[in-house]
Amino acid sequence: MAANLKFLIVVAAAAATVSVSDAQLSSTYYDGTCPTVFDMVKSVVRSAINREKRVGASIVRLFFHDCFVNGCDGGLLLDDNLPAFESEKNALPNKNSARGFEVIDKIKAATENVCKGVVSCADILAIATRDSVVELGGPSWQVLVGRRDARTANKQAADTDLPPFSANLTLLINMFQQKNFTARELVALSGAHSIGMARCTTFRDHLYNNTNLDPIATTDLKANCPQSGGDDNLVGLDHQSPNRFGNNYFQGLMKKRGLLNSDQVLFNAGSTDDVVRTYGDNAQMFSDEFASAMVKMGNMNPLTGSNGEIRTNCRKIN
Ligand code: HEM
Repeated sequence: MAANLKFLIVVAAAAATVSVSDAQLSSTYYDGTCPTVFDMVKSVVRSAINREKRVGASIVRLFFHDCFVNGCDGGLLLDDNLPAFESEKNALPNKNSARGFEVIDKIKAATENVCKGVVSCADILAIATRDSVVELGGPSWQVLVGRRDARTANKQAADTDLPPFSANLTLLINMFQQKNFTARELVALSGAHSIGMARCTTFRDHLYNNTNLDPIATTDLKANCPQSGGDDNLVGLDHQSPNRFGNNYFQGLMKKRGLLNSDQVLFNAGSTDDVVRTYGDNAQMFSDEFASAMVKMGNMNPLTGSNGEIRTNCRKIN
């Protein structure tokens, strides 16, 4: 009896925790204050991608790098504000790599024009990410909004909480587990690498020192990424179609064509091989599970209520 009661209290407490953290995110949050926000974001994203396809991928990565570091609070978007804080943009995984910030600035300017002081940078990034995936041929999902913006950044957390390209499978699984994601969700989210580019410096070791690469792909890659020099040379993460979101990334892994070490370890006779095969064979299942995992990512520790602020400029606190 006492044990039952205790169980009920634990369950009720867990339910309360879940509902408190999610309570203020909703799809209708801006209906009364900025009803055109979704249209504005879509239109800026669309014209940015029309100018340069890759920027859609860059935006998706910004969202991941924002949410994994202290939650989806727009912290990544802040520039240096010394001595108070150093920008997350200077952390190793972001430096000379994270891009697309001007698109977010453009959306922010558009929303400030129409609904001043209402739409957070964190929400703009969440909506722009969904729109980028859709624009590049991927699945859609309902974006919950109502996040507020951080008043500080955490460069140190960006250095420790974002996975390195050299990670093995155990490390990837652990790092995602720390953020409450399953190994299956790690694989689904990695499918974002069906779009975008990587610099030679991020895949050189994998290319020259690992044996789990398709020799045909290797020859091509080596021409683009010499053993020394050419650090910033770009190659599509999915060499077949880096501007088209889809399950081709998983088919590439099955052919040992993963560009990063952290890609190929997902299919290297380990515990996630089956998930890679499943997604490679079933585009719909990948789309559905990617979309759910992105919604889950968007729910990572949002600032709500009176926490944080609505920044006027995404690069600076008010
Ligand atoms: C699983 C661990 C992951 C690792 C180790 C990793 C690492 C990397 C690296 C090294 C690059 C290339 C960066 C450069 O050369 O400048 C990259 C690009 C990218 N990543 Fe990841 N990533 C991971 C997961 C994710 C996830 C979960 C997402 C989104 C859901 C994502 C989205 C992207 C995108 C879209 C690009 C291309 C960006 C562009 O072209 O600007 N990645 N990632």
